[in-house]
Amino acid sequence: MSDLTPYLDQIRSRLKVSEIIGKDVRLIRKGNEFSGLCPFHKEKTPSFTLNDAKGFYHCFGCGAHGDAIHYVMQRSGMNFMNAVEHLAGLAGVILPEKKSTTSEEKIYYEILKVACEWFEENLKRSIGEKAREYLNLRGFTSKTIEEFHLGFAADKHQNQPSLYKTLLEKGFKRDKILSSGLIIQPNDGREPYDRFRGRVMFPINDLKGNVIAFGGRVLGDGQPKYLNSSDTSIFHKGKILYNFAQAQRHVTSDQPLIIVEGYFDVIALHQAGFKTAVAPLGTALTEDQLALLWRRNSQPLFCFDADLAGLRAGFRATKRALPLLTSEKTLRFCYLPKGEDPDSYIKANGKEAFTNILNSSRSLSETLWDSLIMAYQPSIESTPEEKAAFKKNVYAFVSEIADADVRHFYFEDFNEKLRQLWYKHKGKALVDKISTKQVVVPFQRHVLKKKLLSQKILLATLINHPTLIDNVAEQLALVEFDNESWQQLKQCILQNMNGDFSSLKEELHLKGFSSILEEILDKKIYLHAPFAQEGTDSKVALDRWEEIWNRVAWQESVKKDIKNSAENMKASFDEFEWQKMKALKSSLTHSS
Ligand code: UTP
Ligand code: MN
Repeated sequence: MSDLTPYLDQIRSRLKVSEIIGKDVRLIRKGNEFSGLCPFHKEKTPSFTLNDAKGFYHCFGCGAHGDAIHYVMQRSGMNFMNAVEHLAGLAGVILPEKKSTTSEEKIYYEILKVACEWFEENLKRSIGEKAREYLNLRGFTSKTIEEFHLGFAADKHQNQPSLYKTLLEKGFKRDKILSSGLIIQPNDGREPYDRFRGRVMFPINDLKGNVIAFGGRVLGDGQPKYLNSSDTSIFHKGKILYNFAQAQRHVTSDQPLIIVEGYFDVIALHQAGFKTAVAPLGTALTEDQLALLWRRNSQPLFCFDADLAGLRAGFRATKRALPLLTSEKTLRFCYLPKGEDPDSYIKANGKEAFTNILNSSRSLSETLWDSLIMAYQPSIESTPEEKAAFKKNVYAFVSEIADADVRHFYFEDFNEKLRQLWYKHKGKALVDKISTKQVVVPFQRHVLKKKLLSQKILLATLINHPTLIDNVAEQLALVEFDNESWQQLKQCILQNMNGDFSSLKEELHLKGFSSILEEILDKKIYLHAPFAQEGTDSKVALDRWEEIWNRVAWQESVKKDIKNSAENMKASFDEFEWQKMKALKSSLTHSS
């Protein structure tokens, strides 16, 4: 089905939630809002409210929540499309026709198949020598190369006929070739040219095994490192997972689908005997991809690198999965040591070590809890207000779960965790890894102090070890210092990047940062961070710097995600609500 969003917007703008719900519930108006007795649970005093401007209803009693479509689904048990059709009828909105499979699609399958064979052929010929070398270097056997139908798109200067010309010669129609996702047609009337040049080619299959697109990796260091076919009528990057058709055949009760980051990881795992690996195509996991995974496996295992990007990807997957969780649909998580992907990890440590990592996986609820602890760092010294604030954040996540039973048990589980955190003092160990002693201060101030301390350490370490700046410049650029003058100091350090670091301190004094330097190079911080001092082992300093950076950046990024999530709850129609509706849709279609 094509994109429904504009039609849903139309429906929303023409129908008021109060009109639809008003048919079932006696509503009392209070300004912009209405309230009434909740139709989803028994109650004597109204805790059900709705807001026409926002297009939403919400029950403070049972947590029922959604917009008009959601309401119709929940109320009548219709599936998503039926609910949309029903409301479209009421609103007089005409929905697009459902698309039927066409002979046109067959032509694309043929074009892609021919292209795939052509790329494979190129890899075997003399023009493919560099690519073969590269694949060898990455440890792929010729059997693997054959199994995955890897190929090569020659560089321009290799004087090969282009794929475009080749396809024309084979008799495919020009317009079909141009819309196959493989060819770029310039707007200015120049000749069309090949999208993939000088790249190792990874064919991407649909569920039936048809090639529907390619990913291409440059040989060596060029940019962009990876390129995918553009989306076409048969290829939608967010709906497919690399290697899914193959991997799903190997799933067993103790061999779940493994979600890894990229093509090389999938293939390296396959070669090492882990044949259930799949990968998204350079984007965060989408709801469609989750649905695809869950069609085959109730607990796919997410396995990324434990660097910030990997942790964020995991957290995003968690957020995306929450509204869709059921008793049969969840995720598990395991992380590889920072800087390792499955590919490099298996090469260095062997299969058994990797199996141990897989076996040490944790549930979604545990990883979600860890993320929240890391982001908010609640402590046993928290005041009642601070505890309430933390609990509210925890609840914001749990209430995104659409499945009533799963939500209920998450609440139970998390309530217990909250209780233990404060009453059994268990949280203490989790709370702080950096500072040595916990001082009894109110939570916010405590955290703020620690955050400033971390930021101070980050700056002091670099000022005292200027040779490290090159290694961490990108990471440093991402830190948002709370203090404006520190932020300026950061800019100055980064601008000085190509200069002579040996005189950094003098440079900073000259630029007027003397008093700020004095504030930052405070002797007290060396009690917490001896490595930050001048003259200490710079390798240790780098390791510790990155550790602290990871924590600071992780907190920032999770908090941003959480804030977005809270804003989403307020927005009238958005992705989050869309996911919730889809969750409901699939749970309804599966149970009926
Ligand atoms: P990275 O750019 O992080 O690749 O993209 P990498 O793992 O470091 O690459 P190697 O190991 O040096 O080759 C992560 C993965 O996302 C996919 C690729 O599979 C890549 O491995 N990707 C990325 C795409 O499919 N398309 C893109 O446009 C970008
Ligand atoms: Mn990699």
